[in-house]
Amino acid sequence: MTGLVIAVDGPAAAGKGTLARRLATELGLPYLDTGLLYRATGRRVLDAAGDPRDPAVAAAAARALTPADLARSDLRGPAADMAASAVAAIPAVRAALLDWQRDFGRRHGAVLDGRDIGTVVFPEAPVKLFVTASPAERARRRWLELQAKGTAAELSVVAAELAARDAQDRQRATAPLKPAADAAVLDTTELDAEAAYATALALVRQRLGRP
Ligand code: DC
Repeated sequence: MTGLVIAVDGPAAAGKGTLARRLATELGLPYLDTGLLYRATGRRVLDAAGDPRDPAVAAAAARALTPADLARSDLRGPAADMAASAVAAIPAVRAALLDWQRDFGRRHGAVLDGRDIGTVVFPEAPVKLFVTASPAERARRRWLELQAKGTAAELSVVAAELAARDAQDRQRATAPLKPAADAAVLDTTELDAEAAYATALALVRQRLGRP
C-alpha cells in the first residue's frame, strides 16, 4: 500500500524535525528523521577510528547499519554532526541508504525530514516543505538547545559549526541541500514554534486541497 509522502527539507537547526514530527502526528503518518541514518553511519566510522571522508570505509558502515545503531544516544554533538555531514557527501553512502528510505515511505506513507527528500528520495511527493531560518537565528536556537541540555558552548562556535556543516551539505555534488523546484519555502526566522507549525500545517492543507 502506498500512502501520502510529505518531504521536509532544510538546513541544520531550522526546526524541521519538530515540524515534521508534529505534522506526522497530526496526519497519522509514520515519521522518519533521515539525518539519523547519516549520523549512525558517521558514528560507526568514528568508533572504528576511521576517517568519515573515506568512501570505502563510510560506505561499508552505511551498509552495515542496524536498527540498534539508530537508537544510540551519542548521535549528536559537534563530532557526530561533522562526521554525519562528511559521510553524507559520499555517493556510495547515499546509494546504500536510498532504498531503505524509499521502502519506509512507501509502506504506509510518511513524513520524512532531511536534505534531499523532495529532490532525490521522493521527487514525486505531493507535498514538499523547505524549512529555513537565518544563520544567526538557527545558531541561537541550537545554542539554546545546548544550554537546556546543560552543555556549555560559545554562541560563536555554534554558529561557525553550523555554517561549516551547511556549506558542506550545500556544496556537495551528490544530492546537495537545496529546495525542490516545487517546494513551499517556509522561513521561520520571525516565527515561534507554534506559528511555524500553524503555517506548515496550512501549507500542507493547501497542497492537499484540504482547507
Ligand atoms: O538533519 P541532521 O542535522 O540530523 O543531519 C545530519 C547530517 O546528515 C547533515 O549535516 C547532512 C546529512 N543528511 C543528508 O545529507 N541528507 C539527509 N536526507 C539527511 C541528513
